[in-house]
Amino acid sequence: MVNGQHCRTVSLEGIELTLINQPRLPHRFERVVTRSHEETAEAISTMVVRGAGAIGAAGAAGMAQAALQAPEDGFEAYIRQATALLQNTRPTAQNLFYGIDRVRTAIAAEHTLVAKREAAVASACFVADEDAACCEQIGIHGADLIQDNAQIATHCNAGWLAFVDWGSALSPIYAANRQGKRVHVWVDETRPRSQGSRLTAWELQEEGIDCSIIADNCLGSLMRSGKVDLVVTGADRVAANGDVANKIGTYSVAVLAREHGIPFYVAAPTTTIDHACPTGESIPIEERAEEEVSYTWGWSDRGEFIRVRTAAPGVRCFNPAFDITPAALISGLITEKGIIAPDLEAIRTLRPT
Ligand code: MRU
Repeated sequence: MVNGQHCRTVSLEGIELTLINQPRLPHRFERVVTRSHEETAEAISTMVVRGAGAIGAAGAAGMAQAALQAPEDGFEAYIRQATALLQNTRPTAQNLFYGIDRVRTAIAAEHTLVAKREAAVASACFVADEDAACCEQIGIHGADLIQDNAQIATHCNAGWLAFVDWGSALSPIYAANRQGKRVHVWVDETRPRSQGSRLTAWELQEEGIDCSIIADNCLGSLMRSGKVDLVVTGADRVAANGDVANKIGTYSVAVLAREHGIPFYVAAPTTTIDHACPTGESIPIEERAEEEVSYTWGWSDRGEFIRVRTAAPGVRCFNPAFDITPAALISGLITEKGIIAPDLEAIRTLRPT
């Protein structure tokens, strides 16, 4: 909900794809429209749209835009190039590859230009609707884990902004709240891009859910003093053995939860599972620009969106965007099909047929 209005992150109408300009949040709520697959690719790589499910739906929409743009003569080559461009935007989130692939397969199954274009648009809309429906189900299953008055910790933003609607880690919290359970959420700031403090806290506030932003190094002492009952995070890719890639810092939170005997759940739709990836070791980890660490971005008191350098000029930075949490540290995976063990056997049952 934004200002009490229901809102989706990704919507395609004709060739126009409407997104929410996420770097401007929480201070400005602005829409952005892309009119070509090149513009959509740029929006994904610069993180105007971000979060596994949202970039999956945006990637799928980008493929539909490419099908609408492609000339009849040279159509196949055009689609191949568009596929490569969209796939190269962000390497870690499995949903991006899922969304692109789904539309590419739908295009390939048709034989005329008109049918290919129609199939591409229908398939992109399906990817978006499926994402929203899966996330809603995740909320229903995950809400069972939440007791009245629970203190829940989360990392990064795996709310509706990171998907088409509802979210993964935040969906059970939204469902529990609607069931009348009172909850309080500890929101990790999540440097360097601060998705926790900028996005998760804003989402929760808009839903009227009690939360507190904490610095990334605060959770250990909160756990030690008994102020955390449950941790729920999202996932960018789940390997076949249950290892999970998620925002950098997730692994540290999982280790802390294990040390303090606190359940640590990962919420993700089954479209985030990469059955071809045997373990977390083979998940590609995106490395982003050093400037994301040496600078911080925000609104000045004069209402300008500015960046401020926090590190000394010339200091080198290292900026891996994700880390791997081994399955052994995860209490369960909350999926749209139910809560499952993070192991080979249970994950195999979720393979698409
Ligand atoms: O780099 P981002 O913001 O696209 O990161 C992805 C994420 O939002 C998180 O890792 C999230 O917990 C999983 S995706 C919903």
